[in-house]
Amino acid sequence: MASEAIAQVLAGSAAERVLDRTLRDHRHLSRGQRQALKEAVFNVGLWRRRLGFLLGRDDATPPFLLYALLHGLAGVPAPEAAALAGVGEGPPPVLVTGEAPTLALRASLPDWLADHFARELGPEAEDFCAHLNVPGPITLRANPLRTSRDALAERLRSEGVTTRPGSWSPLALLVEGPRPNLYGLPSLREGLFEVQDEGSQLLGLLVEARPGETVLDLCAGAGGKTLLLGAEMKDAGRLMAHDPDPERLDRLLQRAARAGLTRVQVLRSPPSPNLGADRVLVDAPCSELGSLRRGPDLRFHSGPEVLAHFPPLQQDILQHAGDLVRPGGRLVYATCTVNRAENEDIVTAFLASRPEFRLVRPGAGWLPAACVRDEFLFVAPHRHGTDAFFAAVMERSAG
Ligand SMILES: C[S@@+](CC[C@H](N)C(=O)[O-])C[C@H]1O[C@@H](n2cnc3c(N)ncnc32)[C@H](O)[C@@H]1O
Repeated sequence: MASEAIAQVLAGSAAERVLDRTLRDHRHLSRGQRQALKEAVFNVGLWRRRLGFLLGRDDATPPFLLYALLHGLAGVPAPEAAALAGVGEGPPPVLVTGEAPTLALRASLPDWLADHFARELGPEAEDFCAHLNVPGPITLRANPLRTSRDALAERLRSEGVTTRPGSWSPLALLVEGPRPNLYGLPSLREGLFEVQDEGSQLLGLLVEARPGETVLDLCAGAGGKTLLLGAEMKDAGRLMAHDPDPERLDRLLQRAARAGLTRVQVLRSPPSPNLGADRVLVDAPCSELGSLRRGPDLRFHSGPEVLAHFPPLQQDILQHAGDLVRPGGRLVYATCTVNRAENEDIVTAFLASRPEFRLVRPGAGWLPAACVRDEFLFVAPHRHGTDAFFAAVMERSAG
C-alpha cells in the first residue's frame, strides 16, 4: 500500500492528497501505521533525489527508495529495512557512501532549481536549500481587533496549545510541541487569530495602514493580508480587496466577518485608475519558491519555465497599481519567491518608467535591519525561520 501511494506521488500527484485518499481507503490502520505511512509517503516524496543517489540510480522503484530512506537516512539495519520496504528476496542493495556531489542531490531538488538557488543566493544557497527540507513552524497572527498577543497566548494555553512569541512580527506566536488541531479551537472560531507565516505578516505590516485611510489590497486572494490591513486600520476607513478569483473573495468575506471587520469592500472587477488610494498592496502572483518547505513535493511540481512565467503579469499589475495611488501615497510590491526577475528587476523597471515613485526603506523605525537587504525586505528560512519573502516599499511624490 505504501509503495502504491509513493508511486502516485512520484508520478506527480500531490502527496497530501494521495495520503488522504490512501488513509480513507484503509480505515482499519492503527494510529502507528497511519503515522508510518505518512512518514514513508512524505519522506520518499521529498528525498527522492537523494535516495536515488544512495541507490546509485535515478529510476529506482518505490520499495527500493523506501529501503534507502529507512536504511540510508533513518539508520534502520539493512535486513530489517529491506523487509519493511518489501524489496524482495536476496541481499539488500549496498548504498553509496560519502557526500553527494551536487547541491541538487544533497538537498533533493531538481537540477534546474538547485542551479537557480545557487545563482540567486551564492554562498548561502546550501544553507537555504537545507532549510527547505525542514517543515516550517506553525505560526499564528493575533488579531488586534479582538485580543493582544499576550492575551492570545494565555487563551491558547487554556485550550492546550503552547506558543512562544515570534522574533520579527509583533503579532506572531509560534506553536510549540506537536501539531494541534487548530481548526477545532474556539479561539479560532472567535476570530482571535489567523494562521499566517511571520514573513507574510511583515508584508502586511509594511503597508503601515492607518485608521481612516483608503487602502487597497489589489491581489487579495482569500484575504490573509487584507485582514491584517483591516486590523491595522482599526476597522475604520475604506478598505478594498480585489482578486480575479471569485471563490477566494468569498472566503475573504467569511474570514473578515469572523475577524470582526465590518467595512471590507470586495471589488470583483479591477478598480478603475485614479482611485486615489493612500496605500496599495500588490501581493503579486509569483513562482512561490519561497514556500517550498510547506509541502514535501512542491519542488517537483513545476519546471524551469516557471522562472520566466510571471514577470510580464507582475509588471502589468504593478503598473496598474501605480495609477491607483494618490500623490504622497504608498505602494508595496511583494512576492513569496526567490527570483530576481520577479523581485528586484520588476521594481527597478517600474521605478525607471515611473519617476514619480521612489523606493523607501521598508519598516523604517520598527523593522529589524536583519530583515532588510539592499533597501528591500528579504526574509528566508535559513536566516529568519520564516518562509522566503521579498517586498519593496515605494512612495509617490506629493507634487
Ligand atoms: C500571492 S497570492 C495573494 C495572497 C493573499 N494576498 C494572501 O495574503 O492571502 C496572489 C493573488 O493574485 C491573484 N491574481 C492573479 N492575477 C491577478 C491580477 N491580474 N490582478 C490582481 N490579482 C491577481 C491570484 O488570484 C492570487 O490570489
